[in-house]
Amino acid sequence: MKLWGGRFTKETDALVNQFNASLPFDRRFYKQDIRGSIAHVTMLAKQGIVSEDDSAQIIAGLNSILEDLNSGRLQFDDVSEDIHSFVEANLIERIGEPGKRLHTGRSRNDQVALDMRLYARDEIDEMKELIRDLLTVIINISEENTETFMPGFTHLQKAQPVTLAHHLGAYFEMFKRDYERLTSIRERMNVCPLGSGALAGTTYPLDREYTAKLLGFDGPSLNSMDGVSDRDYLIEFLSAMSTIMMHLSRFSEEMIIWNTNEYRFVDLDDAYSTGSSIMPQKKNPDIAELVRGKTGRVYGALMGFLTTMKGLPLAYNKDMQEDKEMFFDALDTTKGCITLFTGMLKTTRFNKPRMAASAKNGFTNATDAADYLVGKGVPFRDAHGIVGQLVLFCEEKKISLDEMSLEEYKAISPVFEADIYDAISLETCVDKRLTIGAPGPSVMKEVIDKNKQWLASL
Ligand code: ARG
Repeated sequence: MKLWGGRFTKETDALVNQFNASLPFDRRFYKQDIRGSIAHVTMLAKQGIVSEDDSAQIIAGLNSILEDLNSGRLQFDDVSEDIHSFVEANLIERIGEPGKRLHTGRSRNDQVALDMRLYARDEIDEMKELIRDLLTVIINISEENTETFMPGFTHLQKAQPVTLAHHLGAYFEMFKRDYERLTSIRERMNVCPLGSGALAGTTYPLDREYTAKLLGFDGPSLNSMDGVSDRDYLIEFLSAMSTIMMHLSRFSEEMIIWNTNEYRFVDLDDAYSTGSSIMPQKKNPDIAELVRGKTGRVYGALMGFLTTMKGLPLAYNKDMQEDKEMFFDALDTTKGCITLFTGMLKTTRFNKPRMAASAKNGFTNATDAADYLVGKGVPFRDAHGIVGQLVLFCEEKKISLDEMSLEEYKAISPVFEADIYDAISLETCVDKRLTIGAPGPSVMKEVIDKNKQWLASL
């Protein structure tokens, strides 16, 4: 059934129908559509705009449609224009005359604006849960690894020793911000556009505060033209998803590097790796690669939809129907990636001896050797030069700093004493880094506790 046949004298071209239709994808929010309609008609009855009896029949009809769609007894057709027409037509088929009163004081413009908002809000809640699971896995691994040494990198060159807890802690902070970003988007988007009508409100005495409350919103949107044409919250959500994907992609890249034959910092679980059809020895990090790769799709959705919205005059334009497929794809992709990545991380084994050995043999303690000299009164710039000579010496001899003899040290600078060995041990290098945010195990434990409390408060 078409909702708008009255002023037309000709059938729509079949291809036009197909091109125009959104039911193939907006069926995804049928629950939200029905929920919105129930709230709308409840309000209409309270305001005396429809009778209590009609309202009761409409609500019963809508609930039976919901049940039948849930159970699969009712199937979507391929002729309805969109989910709104489909539900309304079905309602009229089921209850007759009263069904025709549902759409009083409402336009599909405010209806779809409401449906998308309800749907996006539910999705934000789900995504927050997934991020919380990921954060829990990260903090659990961190807790067990405050003394697991590994090299920290800049320019992908070994820089200074850190711990696995510290390295993973950086990701914890990123995903914590992602979580909070989602929370704040949800807060900002939580206004109800229903009652905006086509664009200019309606002449019916709608109680918009009431519908907003029924649907769990903080209140009604304050401008009806904005109400039907605001898609900012989708753009913010797509942007938050892009940032989540960017973080996951960085983390994936590190897992891929750590999993290489050269590094072997991690051993991915068999359940989260794949083989090669020709090379029997292969165990590939496909999940991490796919997460890294799929990031492009989510960025694409953000760029695509920003471009769709640019230049649209107020108020509703059909261009906005294009918000759906890109957004749904971004949602599926992001949720899938968070879930898979969480599973992969949870089952990954960390090769601690390998990590510690790697931290040891890359001169990651060179800064600490310089700081040692500073402690003995040498100006830092001179100390930097002296340690540079030590590194050169070691590189020629293919040894690490702690393998030099005291005589060799003294030959380069007489300031060195036997306590140099303790000063540059991995343990000392990490343990002494005690400013807040640094890898020193005692301060790291404090940060982990703080983050655990935050997690428990969610
Ligand atoms: N399927 C449409 C959309 O997603 C619903 C709104 C239709 N409104 C209209 N004036 N044609 O945007």
